[in-house]
Order: sequence, then structure tokens, then C-alpha cells
Amino acid sequence: MNVMEHAVFRRFWYPVMPMSKLKQGPQRFELLGQALALFLDDGGVPAALEDRCCHRTARLSLGEVCDNAIACPYHGWRYNREGQCVLVPQMPDRDPGPKRRVKAFSCREKYGYAWVALEQPLFDIPDFPEAADDSFVLIQEFYEEWRVSGLRVMENELDMAHPSYVHLGTFGSPEHLVAEDAKIEEFPGGFHYTGRLGVKQAHHAQDRNNERFLDCSWYAPFICRLRINYADGPAHVIINCQVPLANNRSQVVQFCFQEDDGNGIDEAAILAFDRKVTLEDKHVLESTDANVPLDPRDERHMVSDKPGLVMRRMIQALIENHETQAVTVQ
Ligand code: FES
Ligand code: CO
Repeated sequence: MNVMEHAVFRRFWYPVMPMSKLKQGPQRFELLGQALALFLDDGGVPAALEDRCCHRTARLSLGEVCDNAIACPYHGWRYNREGQCVLVPQMPDRDPGPKRRVKAFSCREKYGYAWVALEQPLFDIPDFPEAADDSFVLIQEFYEEWRVSGLRVMENELDMAHPSYVHLGTFGSPEHLVAEDAKIEEFPGGFHYTGRLGVKQAHHAQDRNNERFLDCSWYAPFICRLRINYADGPAHVIINCQVPLANNRSQVVQFCFQEDDGNGIDEAAILAFDRKVTLEDKHVLESTDANVPLDPRDERHMVSDKPGLVMRRMIQALIENHETQAVTVQ
């Protein structure tokens, strides 16, 4: 499967830019090959336009925000968040008219990110229950590019057979090769996954129990929520999103919700631990082939691969539905 070849991937929300970065001024981001100029309007709401001025094609993202519009750096034409040119400074008394415009995309803020959907989204941005729970704190973790397919990372998030090989340097236990009681429950556009995994050491010093209770969700196509509970410690909830840049390149967006059980939260320790784990995954994931086959006959499998196989099946169905609809509309 090549994400660039299937229009359905344009119909999901992706967290493309940290709001903290956007507060510094307009930014460029290439989502599925579409160059975007991202900026904040006067209300602090993020906006996403095609990053190409309709005058002489300069990048709007190199410009500045003036009067609730982004001004092109080349001759100063200004565009509002709908992409309509609202001012040509060289002809201030003339209405720029409907032809002077650039494409605008849906853009919203959530979880400290500006999210963009290139076309009518099929599902809403997931609601993570911890975001509405006062005992959890949101911690921003990583925002960086990897040379990997987003689907390989999603499969890895719910692949409980890899920690005993990949994560021996952090939490993986050689005695626990697979998860116990693994269960999958599908919902439209994703599934819940629960199970238990024995680990070498728990996430924090105060977590003395060496078993993780997993309560996870996958949201098509590239978002995983991994809630890790221990018998006697605070829950740690990792949100991993893979924003597709191209077929073999993804922007890794990871943040977490950390439960405060009254013992305080050591953000630096959490970041350092999750960093180490993430780099262990990166090492192997970047060695995998980005062309993930959706047909199960094209790779070999084992029982613990089930979450990844369900993802492949559900993605295949989304692609087929989208393509059937497109044919019907024509
Ligand atoms: Fe943008 Fe001229 S190229 S105003
Ligand atoms: Co891993």
C-alpha cells in the first residue's frame, strides 16, 4: 500500500504542527505531498492554506500575519483563513475578486497541535478520555521525521511480541514473549485492544508491579492510544500519531497523559524514558519496507500479529469504500 496513491488518506485529521511553533509565526508543512502554509488568525485559531501564492507562486509560509490574514512575502497580497485574497496593497481601492484565492483546508486545534484534514474527514479527531480527567497532565514528547511507513509504526505500537527483543534495554522482559488475554473490539474506524504484558521493570520507581495492563485504541489510519496501567502506580497514556509526509516518511507526533497519583510528576524522567523506548523502536522500524502489503498472503505472520492484521483489513475496507463511492459519484 502506498499512502500517496489512495485519496482516502486525505480524509483524516492529522496533527501537523505544535501550537507552540505556530505562535512563533507562519510555518510550512508538507502533508501527503500537499504543501501547507499554517498560521494563526487574530483569534489564535490555526488556519491552513496551500503554500503557493496565486500571484507569482511564492511561499505564503515565509510571510507574516497582518490584520487576520497572511501576507505573501513577495508583493504583500493578503489572504484570509478561507484562502480569499482580501488585499492587493498595490491596488488598495479595488476588490481583489473571487479569482484571487488559494486553496484552504480544514484546520483545528486540539491537544496542543494544529490538526489538518485535506478533504472532508471521515471521522472526528479522537477524544481521549484522559484529556477531560483532571488527574492527568498532558506532556508533549516528540515531533520529528522518521523514514518509515505510518502503518508499520501503528502495528509496532500494538505488537506485544517485540518488547522482549527490541526493548531489553528499557522494559522488555525475555520471559514474556507475548501478551496474555489479548482482545480486540472493533468500532467504526478503529478498535480497542486490551491485554496484559509482563515487563522487566515498571515505568516509574513507584510502580512496583511487573505487569502492564494494556487498554489501547487504534484510530485509522495512524493514531494509537496506549494506556499502560500497573497494579499499584499511576497510569501512563501514550498517544502516538504518524502524519504521512510521503509513502516512506512520517512525522512522528507523540504526547502523553500522565496520571498524578499525588506523588508528583517527574516530566524529565518520563521524557527520558519514553525517548529511550522510542529510539529502540526507530532503529528497527526504519529498516522495514514502507510498502506494507494489505493482503495478508503477502507477508508471513504469527498469532500475536492480530492487531496489525485487523488494521490492514480495516484500512483495505476504507480504501475500497472510498474508491467505490468515488466511482458512484462520477
Ligand atoms: Fe505573492 Fe506576488 S507572489 S504577492
Ligand atoms: Co516498541
